[in-house]
Amino acid sequence: MKVTVVGAGAVGASCAEYIAIKNFASEVVLVDIKENFAEGKAMDLMQTASLNGFDTKIIGSTNDYLKTKGSDIAIITSGIPRKPGMTREELIGINAGIVKTVSENLIKHSRDVILIIVSNPMDTMTYLTHKVTGLSKNRIIGMGGALDSARFKYRLAEALECPISDVDGMVIGGHSDKGMLPLTRLASRNSVKASKFITEERLNQVLEATKVGGATLTGMLGTSAWYAPGAAVSSLVHSIACDQKKMYPCSVMLDGEYGLSDLCIGVPVILGRNGVEKIVELDLNTAEMQKLNESAEGVKKTNGLLE
Ligand code: 2OP
Repeated sequence: MKVTVVGAGAVGASCAEYIAIKNFASEVVLVDIKENFAEGKAMDLMQTASLNGFDTKIIGSTNDYLKTKGSDIAIITSGIPRKPGMTREELIGINAGIVKTVSENLIKHSRDVILIIVSNPMDTMTYLTHKVTGLSKNRIIGMGGALDSARFKYRLAEALECPISDVDGMVIGGHSDKGMLPLTRLASRNSVKASKFITEERLNQVLEATKVGGATLTGMLGTSAWYAPGAAVSSLVHSIACDQKKMYPCSVMLDGEYGLSDLCIGVPVILGRNGVEKIVELDLNTAEMQKLNESAEGVKKTNGLLE
């Protein structure tokens, strides 16, 4: 199993690190445009191998896509991250050009690759990747919902004053502060609805804190977060590589599911060796469906900026 990570910044390096630590991939290729940067990160990470107990070989490449040849999975993290106060949508001008070039370079050497898009605005970059590569729908996956759901679970556990492993929750919709839709109605602690333990007001605070999860960290760190994004990507890669068939909300091309089409937006999917094995359609209530539609409108508006 060969995995390429494009962009050796904080998010890309964190993806490579978590993938290596899970020890399921034979090779991880880290690519960056900055001379020797990916090679340096790869060497540093390789020097953790004996300490962390992994055998994955990590190599770096300064923009040489020949080294990515035959990748089973490639992750695109390249582009500029958010600065405090910025929305993900504001990054489109620079990131669209970068994502286009990177995806073209990747498929030149790995025709059957499964792509995972992390660059923002993620739903629109995932849509753009479809247009640029023409890869089948099951091979292009936007990473947002898995990260937002992890942030949702963190906030839920905080409110319920319980271990994170006790809670379950999912975030669907666009990967944007306004567009994401934490499904509070379905959130639970060991199958008991979260609303049994906390007031509606507290649950709403959890929802709001989740929606600004990325922005909160950007304000604190001065740039966007990397540990949870890296961990979320590595979980998706693990499910695909090891055919785990786990369910994660991911941004995928819809063709009538949820009454939506011609856009990529976060919905639950089953991830296995073929990438997206199935799109799961939840029974949303009217209010949730309305929010999902509003979120889709927002994503389509950002997609419109591509032309
Ligand atoms: C985040 O929410 C990077 O979009 C990513 O932190």
